[in-house]
Amino acid sequence: MAETKPTAKGMQNLNRLSKPTDRLHLAGTGTGPDYDDQEAAKAKAAISSVYDMIAATWSLGDLWNWGLYDPKLLQEVEEIIPDFTSFGTDGFSELLYFYTLRQVPLDIADYRGKRVLEVGSGIGAGLNFLSRVAGGAEMSGVDISKTAVERANARYSRGEALSYTVGDAESLPFDDGVFDVVINVESSHSYPSLGNFFGEVARVLKPGGYLSLVDAFTEHRANTFNKTMPECARLEWLADNDISPQVSAAVRQRMAPGSYLRQSFAKQRMSPLKRVVGKHGLMAALGAPFTGDASMTPLAKWSRKVSGLAISDKAPVRTYRHYLATRVS
Ligand SMILES: C[S@@+](CC[C@H](N)C(=O)[O-])C[C@H]1O[C@@H](n2cnc3c(N)ncnc32)[C@H](O)[C@@H]1O
Repeated sequence: MAETKPTAKGMQNLNRLSKPTDRLHLAGTGTGPDYDDQEAAKAKAAISSVYDMIAATWSLGDLWNWGLYDPKLLQEVEEIIPDFTSFGTDGFSELLYFYTLRQVPLDIADYRGKRVLEVGSGIGAGLNFLSRVAGGAEMSGVDISKTAVERANARYSRGEALSYTVGDAESLPFDDGVFDVVINVESSHSYPSLGNFFGEVARVLKPGGYLSLVDAFTEHRANTFNKTMPECARLEWLADNDISPQVSAAVRQRMAPGSYLRQSFAKQRMSPLKRVVGKHGLMAALGAPFTGDASMTPLAKWSRKVSGLAISDKAPVRTYRHYLATRVS
């Protein structure tokens, strides 16, 4: 597979969007009078082209989110899939998925025959992992990036047990009331309207079904999220957990010298300039500024800027949280 390219046309389009709130990591403007269809469409087009580019070139293993580390959860996973980290991964991204599923008040054995949807399923590795952990469930992923969905289907799809579809979180391509559980892993920060997303989740969930969501929150995004949560009358919010310590523990291990991430990146072939830019961009994309592990030299800041990740300097993530909701009507 080709090297990971830190810059591309999609990234430039994202940086050109008119309002700062339309940019990646600051999206989520709610459904109020400030919602602008045209700006939202531009933001989504830019976001899908960025993830198309990443999906076409990503070669650093199954890590598309910041991950989570919790020794008890790790033990629980290893009881189900022994040595799961020997399958070419550091395991942190999978643990974040496992945490997200385990917050739903169902036992793993109860998933047999249940329908699970992941909104924002990316390259599909996380949902594939959950389908191995919770066997017998029917798992569907949906993502706005066509290339990510093609890659996920090519690698992982298994008939009705596991499939991936192109679609928008704000207009889900599924019938009403068909899913028992919806999960959302580090994706909601990109949606121009959280209100539209919550409405769509409530529509596709069965009554009594659950939404389990994890994401990184800037101050702006946390305010938007808190304001939008009560606006969707069909969802009752059951839990709000600050999981910053467990996520930070994973990020720090990834940023440490000799980590799986650093070793994988070192094996990539690229020019010295791309290596510098790519390293700082990659570290920012995987949470280093959140844990204080990002370099603050002018070169590092410039690298984040040209990688489209200057936002991590301008609007830092304050907290990493989990939310659980159920469909009530
Ligand atoms: C940081 S990645 C996380 C992917 C995956 N959940 C994981 O943890 O590996 C965010 C994903 O959300 C998807 N996404 C962004 N906006 C979306 C939207 N409006 N509808 C569906 N997917 C979207 C992106 O294409 C990308 O695949």
